[in-house]
Amino acid sequence: MTASILPGDDPASIAAACRLLREGGLVGMPTETVYGLAADATNGTAVAALYAAKGRPTFNPLISHVTGLDMAASLGRFNPVARELALAFWPGPLTLVVPRRADCPVSELAGAGLETLALRAPDHPVAQALIAAFGGPLVAPSANPSGGVSPTQAEHVADGLGAKIDLILDGGSCRVGVESTVIGFDGDQALLLRKGGLARRDIEAITGPLGRPDAASPKASPGMLKSHYAPRAALRLNATSAREGEVLLGFGKVNGAKLNLSLTGDLQEAAAHLFACLRELDASGAQCIAVSPIPDEGLGEAINDRLQRAAAPRDAE
Ligand code: TXA
Ligand code: MG
Repeated sequence: MTASILPGDDPASIAAACRLLREGGLVGMPTETVYGLAADATNGTAVAALYAAKGRPTFNPLISHVTGLDMAASLGRFNPVARELALAFWPGPLTLVVPRRADCPVSELAGAGLETLALRAPDHPVAQALIAAFGGPLVAPSANPSGGVSPTQAEHVADGLGAKIDLILDGGSCRVGVESTVIGFDGDQALLLRKGGLARRDIEAITGPLGRPDAASPKASPGMLKSHYAPRAALRLNATSAREGEVLLGFGKVNGAKLNLSLTGDLQEAAAHLFACLRELDASGAQCIAVSPIPDEGLGEAINDRLQRAAAPRDAE
């Protein structure tokens, strides 16, 4: 099998993708954060095939993608804070982890047997059109082999998974470039489970200070592997210049950078470029990628989180 890449803005592509999903197939789906590998969330066999295609440890639960709060509220129970967050930031790069409804049709496998469910309404016209046409939730982890760099272009999906999936919808380059921020709840207290494409301060304007998940509790985001998002090359962070045998990935005004995440020091632009830059430097054959310091504020928190995982010793996986 070699996945075909079809233009996502063509209704015929959406119809073809829907047919495949109904048969339990896998479809590369653009979202505003990264490309997802979509499957019918209610079809356990399709979800199992998805885990197999990604080579993903099955204890890592998946996000169910919905058109909006109406579809989400038919699957999970929203407390007032969760509802307020969904109203403020959906569609967008925010995932909310809420209790499953008793009659929730999402497969147990997709939720890794947890009593909670992760839900997100993506802000991309192709993803919205696909979920609406399908008429139900689609699980979609990032469309890359487990542990690899997340895809932000249709070609990246084809490179990593083209031999294992049926179809990729091309929706251009992802606008946000890092995965969604994942928020869970302990009662009404909102917890930051994964840093991501929606900045902490935007969320805290509604929730007040976000709690940290208790690592020992099942509410903590499971499957947060230390070494994740890893390119083949080694990474050295907070570098001021490239040493012998290294290439420099710059941020802001730095000398000697082979690529630059954002010449103007714009964190949003840097997030959007992050994974594509790591791929390009990896493909250039570099042994080690040195990365300029990134301020740990706004989207810089998510960028630094991904860089630290990419730099972690690989045997941590
Ligand atoms: O931006 C994104 O979120 C992308 C695009 C494709 O939508 N998707 C994505 O999915 O990153 P994935 O499967 O790679 O990440 C899902 C995250 C993981 O950190 C997982 O542990 C957490 O959501 N998660 C899912 N269900 C959960 C649950 N019931 N409780 C706590 N964390 C959960
Ligand atoms: Mg991923």
